[in-house]
Amino acid sequence: MIERIKLLREEISSITPESGEDAEKFRIKYLSRKGLVSLLFDEFRNIPPEEKKEIGKLLNLLKEEAQSKYQLLKSISEKTLSVTKENDLTRTSFPISLGTRHPISIVRNEIIEIFSRLGFTISEGPEIEDDDHVFTSLNFAPEHPARDMQDTFYISRLSQEDSSPDDILLRTHTSSVQVRVMQSTPPPIRTISPGRVFRNEAISARAHCIFHQVEGLYIDKNVSFADLKQTLLYFAHEMFGRDTKIRIRPSYFPFTEPSGEMDVSCRICKGKGCNVCKYTGWLEILGCGMVHPNVLESCNISSTEFTGFAFGMGIERLAMLKYQINDLRLFFENDKRFLDQFRSYI
Ligand code: PHE
Repeated sequence: MIERIKLLREEISSITPESGEDAEKFRIKYLSRKGLVSLLFDEFRNIPPEEKKEIGKLLNLLKEEAQSKYQLLKSISEKTLSVTKENDLTRTSFPISLGTRHPISIVRNEIIEIFSRLGFTISEGPEIEDDDHVFTSLNFAPEHPARDMQDTFYISRLSQEDSSPDDILLRTHTSSVQVRVMQSTPPPIRTISPGRVFRNEAISARAHCIFHQVEGLYIDKNVSFADLKQTLLYFAHEMFGRDTKIRIRPSYFPFTEPSGEMDVSCRICKGKGCNVCKYTGWLEILGCGMVHPNVLESCNISSTEFTGFAFGMGIERLAMLKYQINDLRLFFENDKRFLDQFRSYI
């Protein structure tokens, strides 16, 4: 028996992982219930007691060696398994479908990119605002219709009859961020503020109660309407192409004087007239104007020393023009078939 144990120990020690030995086959052959090592242990029960000490020692050695060989074979075969089945760099890749950016984010990033080239920084403000930042500091008369409950979502209103600067509401435009920036930063100021705004409107293809705007503000000494016009012309060329024309029509906003609305030439019909531009050749894209002296003063900026311009545009409107989308609701429905159509690197 001593001789058989010796032979088996030699046999096991000669087995190497390189010889392609399978760990499971090894276990079955030597260590399983009917394996060669186990059979020797069975025989051990019947040998005379005086031999037990020596043979028992040898058997234990054999068993230890067989078990550690098994562990070695097992760990090596696991490694090769993970290399061949999981990390095989030559295998064809899974078709991973990448997510897409939302068209509103794409257009917002594009606007930010264009204005940052002109040195505009980005500023943000809260969506839940007070009447002071959304209306009062922006020169809205106390009874101005924009404060009406029909347009504004009030969260808490101090008095049912009159609005108070402390009323809490959802901002109806990003112009509230202008106020916050002017109150906290001494001029020169050159900033844009992208953000979400809320108006109490019935949801339809052309209107929604949530939408996005980008506000622009430039305050310095000697800022003129010509600066505003040049800035917006640059923006229109970058956004819609070099052949785009702009026109600015007189308009009214309480916080700018003079105020204007800017149109760009219709990029679909190139100004000839089509149903997108309602046969006018022009598409309105933003409101703008010179910051009203009352607004500067309410934010503690001297209106004799400084002038500035501001503008505000709806991101949905620009995205609709850019991608020829005719229903605003599509932006908010998160239909994957719609969203999958947009690709962007910014
Ligand atoms: N806040 C205006 C709006 O929501 C847009 C605007 C911004 C107009 C800045 C002039 C200057 O319609």
